[in-house]
Amino acid sequence: MKKYIPIFIKVHARRWQWFLKNYGRLGKDTQIINHSHFGGPITYDMDSLATSNNSDFVRDPRFVRAFAAALDAKRGVNFDLKWRTYVVCWLADHVKTLEGDFVECGVDTGAFSRAVIEYTDFRKLNKTFYLMDTWEGLVPGLVTEEELKAGVDKYMKIYNVKDMYDWVQKSFKDYNVKIIKGMIPDTLSQCTADKICYLSIDMNCVAPEIAAAEYFWDKIVPGGVVILDDYGFPDHIAQKKAFDEFASRKNISILSLPTGQGIIFKK
Ligand SMILES: C[S@@+](CC[C@H](N)C(=O)[O-])C[C@H]1O[C@@H](n2cnc3c(N)ncnc32)[C@H](O)[C@@H]1O
Repeated sequence: MKKYIPIFIKVHARRWQWFLKNYGRLGKDTQIINHSHFGGPITYDMDSLATSNNSDFVRDPRFVRAFAAALDAKRGVNFDLKWRTYVVCWLADHVKTLEGDFVECGVDTGAFSRAVIEYTDFRKLNKTFYLMDTWEGLVPGLVTEEELKAGVDKYMKIYNVKDMYDWVQKSFKDYNVKIIKGMIPDTLSQCTADKICYLSIDMNCVAPEIAAAEYFWDKIVPGGVVILDDYGFPDHIAQKKAFDEFASRKNISILSLPTGQGIIFKK
């Protein structure tokens, strides 16, 4: 009998079933998306990620303070990467008791790093946070045709913001950071950390990202983490290919998150 019921009636019936089941959980700000694979009201819908799964972290006071620091770093520019920020904060907190320093390659305003500093109470850690960027955007000579075709061209100019380097110096002045300005890979040797427990790589460009991963790999302590911000994004498919190849050379695997981030733990 069921197979003779038209599809549109079945879809309609499923929507009603979902509505009746979740009615008690709907709030004033609830968004309803008409897809039956969501298990309930949408709890998170930004930065290419919509889910009905629990997202209570967005209200956790410790995270709220960390995200406020990220927003302060952004100087009023719209920033909605909450789940990605939560991931970097959580992982930094997880590795902060290991030996070694923190490094970020691709800092821009420093939103992730300011959030991490707040979340981990970095001042008490007796560590240095190395912040590395051109602060003049992507380096045209390092971007391949394949990356341009995939959509990286839109990032070529947006990170070249006048006075960004001055702003970052001001924004991080109260913390134990070393700011290294210039193009990776040329500047890698200026990062004098012998041991690293947290490495965030976010340059939207394969060549410097792989160069940084190779350069720092032996300095990462067992249990230390590498976060690849661009790993799962369609524009950055070249990064995924290059890091999958890197992972197979190092005999490790990359955890792919729905946020787009790729996570590596050093064994
Ligand atoms: C997506 S932004 C980083 C965002 C940052 N992680 C945050 O927390 O908001 C990418 C940055 O990588 C930097 N970058 C790109 N290519 C680089 C290279 N070869 N050397 C150093 N920095 C580079 C750009 O200048 C830009 O600021």
